Amino acid sequence: MKKIIVAIDGFSSCGKSTLAKDLAKKLKYIYVDTGAMYRAVTLFFLRHNIDLNNTLEVSRALDKIQISFRNFNGENTTFLNDENVEDEIRQMTVSNAVSQIAAISLVRKTMVEQQREMGKQKGLVMDGRDIGTVVFPNAELKIFLTADTEIRAKRRLDEMINKGIDISFQEIKKNLRKRDRIDSTRKDSPLRKASDAIEIDNTELTKDKQLQEVLFLAWEQINMDVL
Ligand code: DC
Repeated sequence: MKKIIVAIDGFSSCGKSTLAKDLAKKLKYIYVDTGAMYRAVTLFFLRHNIDLNNTLEVSRALDKIQISFRNFNGENTTFLNDENVEDEIRQMTVSNAVSQIAAISLVRKTMVEQQREMGKQKGLVMDGRDIGTVVFPNAELKIFLTADTEIRAKRRLDEMINKGIDISFQEIKKNLRKRDRIDSTRKDSPLRKASDAIEIDNTELTKDKQLQEVLFLAWEQINMDVL
């Protein structure tokens, strides 16, 4: 059967990962959370006090970073140099620094190369900010997710509470707004809706309804040459 690439982009906490994960499961595709890759790089940079203005230091640090995704207790889990960092990369220390680090061109170039490599065989659902515009401009299906900021902050708060992280609604909202601003105004591959992306506002959509809609669009693409 024909395999496609599904690119899912959008602002922070729009439910991209949930949709991408569920869709990949239904299609039996690989799921790649590119936000987790930038978060893993950020964790490494924070731990090693990398000077972001020193290109040589940034480049040497990137050479030492290996990011992989493995199945751990049935969950897609991020590994940084063989260490399970899934929980640590979701902490606020990382959330507060990630947009700045993801704006560095050398960091982006390195991540994009790895992401393209992962998509060589197709059969992939990838979520992020620049997947439909930069990483896979020829992806067969591009989705651009949006949702009301209050709803996004509420969803993120619930997620954090479930993980036992103590944080206020205001702090979350502030972090989301700051990341949206940096992600969409940076010079290198800012967050943009690709001209051929399908926009879905999920403020009032249930998770299942949204999945059904996108699954339908994916099947349309997969069966396109067959019909
Ligand atoms: O999806 P997320 O919130 O985990 O992403 C974390 C940060 O990584 C986000 O603020 C912007 C950055 N990012 C990016 O610049 N490009 C991507 N393809 C994915 C994420």
